Amino acid sequence: MKLLVTGGAGFIGSAVVRLAAGRGHEVVNLDALTYAACLENVAEVAESPLYAFEEADIRDAAALDRVFAEHRPDAVMHLAAESHVDRSIDGPGTFIETNVTGTYTLLEAARKYWVGQGRPEGFRFHHISTDEVFGSLGATGKFTEETPYDPRSPYSASKAASDHLVRAWHETYGLPVVLSNCSNNYGPYHFPEKLIPVIILNALAGKPLPVYGKGENVRDWLYVEDHADALLTVLEKGALGRSYNIGGENEAKNIEIVRRICGILDDKRPREGGGAYAELIEFVADRPGHDLRYAIDPTRIREELGWRPSVTLEQGLELTVQWYLDNEDWWRALQGRQGVGERLGKAG
Ligand SMILES: NC(=O)c1ccc[n+]([C@@H]2O[C@H](COP(=O)([O-])OP(=O)(O)OC[C@H]3O[C@@H](n4cnc5c(N)ncnc54)[C@H](O)[C@@H]3O)[C@@H](O)[C@H]2O)c1
Repeated sequence: MKLLVTGGAGFIGSAVVRLAAGRGHEVVNLDALTYAACLENVAEVAESPLYAFEEADIRDAAALDRVFAEHRPDAVMHLAAESHVDRSIDGPGTFIETNVTGTYTLLEAARKYWVGQGRPEGFRFHHISTDEVFGSLGATGKFTEETPYDPRSPYSASKAASDHLVRAWHETYGLPVVLSNCSNNYGPYHFPEKLIPVIILNALAGKPLPVYGKGENVRDWLYVEDHADALLTVLEKGALGRSYNIGGENEAKNIEIVRRICGILDDKRPREGGGAYAELIEFVADRPGHDLRYAIDPTRIREELGWRPSVTLEQGLELTVQWYLDNEDWWRALQGRQGVGERLGKAG
């Protein structure tokens, strides 16, 4: 199968590119190379005859038409997005432009191409979204595919809008789509502005470990390579027009994640001068509108498509910390990028 992957130089997109090429799929990686992109993430497949890269913006209809015409993909996996909630609080405009207008532009380009090809039944447009569209849970309950949308940040609102557009293009034009909504990812190549890499890298630098509020917010963590595997499963086996919630059934409070990372680092790279990394934990002002709890009910993807994660949270955190210890050149090169290492998203 030939896949057009948007956002393939980002965190999750690059895991999809590496896995798909590794499984023998042809992959065209379309990415605008924003601040969040890193072509190093796909270096291991860059020389493969199965791989091609197109620097293009999903808001650029002419560029998309050219890419579809030149590469003639069998499927689109749409991951390109602005993805950082804190940045969406400081500058929501880019999130609307990329996540909403960009998705609309890509849908139209895909529809034009699909119609031009004679509406092949096997064509797929897979829209990759987040569990954040469902809003915030209390202490109990989980998000199912039937949970009403209730986004609460500019990021999640823009992703919710894009989900609605994709469903509408299926209902109105018959475009063969599948959708997935996933919980928080972590793992190798995670851009150093998100919680887990920030904690690992600040700890290694002996800097304070910032925890928003009291660290009580609960997330349902999924190892990124398991997510990539789930996405290929949804693409290949998912029912048309259907959405699948993807999660690792690994709920943890942010403060627990931070303490676990500190413990792993205490074993692997004891602090110079002694002491425990957890002594560096510092509680900072909370994110405005910070959703309390996300939790995914993955029954549908497990029972209908037979998918389940391969890695526990304990194993995944260990692998992740080790990856950052082994790949200092990768993260050092990103630390000078705009906004990295700063507190963003305080909304005044
Ligand atoms: N990170 C998570 O925990 C998580 C969880 C669930 C769903 N998602 C979704 O998965 C997708 C990928 O997330 P990620 O964490 O890998 O994001 P990321 O920020 O690491 O990567 C996004 C990529 O998209 C590219 N991009 C941004 N705007 C573009 C544009 N206008 N045109 C073309 N390319 C553009 C960037 O250059 C970057 O390479 C997103 O759609 C996100 O909403 C993420």
